[in-house]
Amino acid sequence: MKIHEIKQFDHIVIGSGLAGLTCAYHLAKSGRSVAVFTKREIDECNSRFAQGGVACVTDKLDSFDEHVADTLTAGAGMCDEKAVRAIVEAGPEAINEIISLGAKFTTRAELGHKDDPDSFDLGREGGHHKRRILHAGDITGAELERVMVKTIREKNNVTVFENHIAIDLVVSKRLGLPGSNRCFGCYVLNSENGEIFTALAATTTIACGGAGKVYLYTSNPDVACGSGVAMAYRAGAKIANMEFIQFHPTILYHPEIRSFLISEALRGEGAVLKCREKRNAEPVEFMQKYHPMQSLAPRDVVARAIDSEMKRTGEECVYLDIRHHSEETLKRRFPNIFAQCLEAGINMAKDLIPVVPAAHFVCGGIKTEVNGATSILGLYAAGESACTGLHGANRLASNSLLEAMVIPRAMAEDIESRFDSLNAIHPDIRKAMNWTTGNATNSDEQILIAHNWDEIRRFMWDYVGIYRTSKRLERAKNRIKLIRKEIEKYYWDFIVTPDLVELRNIATVAELIIDSSLKRKESRGLHYNADYPFLDPELECVDTIIQRDVRSL
Ligand code: SIN
Repeated sequence: MKIHEIKQFDHIVIGSGLAGLTCAYHLAKSGRSVAVFTKREIDECNSRFAQGGVACVTDKLDSFDEHVADTLTAGAGMCDEKAVRAIVEAGPEAINEIISLGAKFTTRAELGHKDDPDSFDLGREGGHHKRRILHAGDITGAELERVMVKTIREKNNVTVFENHIAIDLVVSKRLGLPGSNRCFGCYVLNSENGEIFTALAATTTIACGGAGKVYLYTSNPDVACGSGVAMAYRAGAKIANMEFIQFHPTILYHPEIRSFLISEALRGEGAVLKCREKRNAEPVEFMQKYHPMQSLAPRDVVARAIDSEMKRTGEECVYLDIRHHSEETLKRRFPNIFAQCLEAGINMAKDLIPVVPAAHFVCGGIKTEVNGATSILGLYAAGESACTGLHGANRLASNSLLEAMVIPRAMAEDIESRFDSLNAIHPDIRKAMNWTTGNATNSDEQILIAHNWDEIRRFMWDYVGIYRTSKRLERAKNRIKLIRKEIEKYYWDFIVTPDLVELRNIATVAELIIDSSLKRKESRGLHYNADYPFLDPELECVDTIIQRDVRSL
């Protein structure tokens, strides 16, 4: 067995989206060394594609209580109210901090409004009863990521390892060390030279983003493979509420342009959803049949309504109509979406926009406290990988960027307050540690990896999507069991390539989603099972927890 290199840091952050870089930023304030591992380039992340913005109370006509209330309503009885309040109330400070680092949010003057020109323009999205979304045009995530990349690049004590993919966590149970489970770092594959090394640190923070690639249709970029949740699960951490997968109602429906989000902010500016009753008929509004907030209803309601209308009418998509605004207004408020639609041959001011739902956000994840602490000592999680209790059974739009900015500060403060005890590396760690597979090699089984990858994404879409039944979930369970066995039995001991690491992660996450969905015997928020179409009051606030038996590690 090859003894591989060990690199030592004070802190490790896995992932370089908004949550990851904000964690690195706050951890670095102590002057200690921070390593950021990111599997592609630093800004290749889900955060960069967030269009809508950051939900935060900044308007005098708004209040923390109202933001909390909207979050709880969307969360359908599954939010942790204390976590919601803590995150909502910490919002303004986080916004001020990122502005001080250089973030630019759109002002009313920039949109041509004469009243209150210096204040920020506030957008509205589904489930919000007030305008409270700060935005940077329609590329908010890209703007915040830009600022954090620049900030991190300027920190001498932060080293960013691009093209480095974390494979698994180094935890005491897996190493056979006594005592409760404790994280010491992670194994990392350098995709450029194929070498694997061990990175050790007092704390390891998972901020690997979402898992949209588990589904055939998604708004997420290729990097969203759920690697954080998968690694934490394999290490024995508690994983919560993975049945709550959010499907964004409006992804552009186009044969060549895939995964392009049409922001909910359009509906905040009055766009309405329409569908054709039959081919060639004029599309008509339908959301009045489903919810009093109509096209601005919470996302779970809207996505299910679209799914049901598409099945009822046999149409391949529905439409967004925002033609009541002028071309000039739309270009100014939604420059990126306008340009992308135009490229697709759609002028938003004149044409209807064809849209379909697609997997967008994982509301569950690694169970954490509001300071990011997980059930494993020394392991923290933030952003979409984490389940803090903010989102419950259905995330309120634009609450995720808020969470990604708020949690890291509380996390870094907690870590610094007990750094010495976290830094006490077990004396036997180096002896116990080894890497049990061979080094990375090129796989001649690429076709099998690609096939398994496609198969998972297709059956997850068909059987574990917006509309679920127990039979479909059981079918999915049988298939994923086989694929997981194949991965572990035929490949894992021989090859470790980035593709295989990702396949193994999406398979783990797919199984977690299926198992959590099978466990929840009701329909709530984003989880709809036609065999249990009711809400069970007994299950309110009861998390679905999955934890790998530590004895089997
Ligand atoms: C959107 O702009 O519709 C997405 C915002 C979000 O997912 O929070």
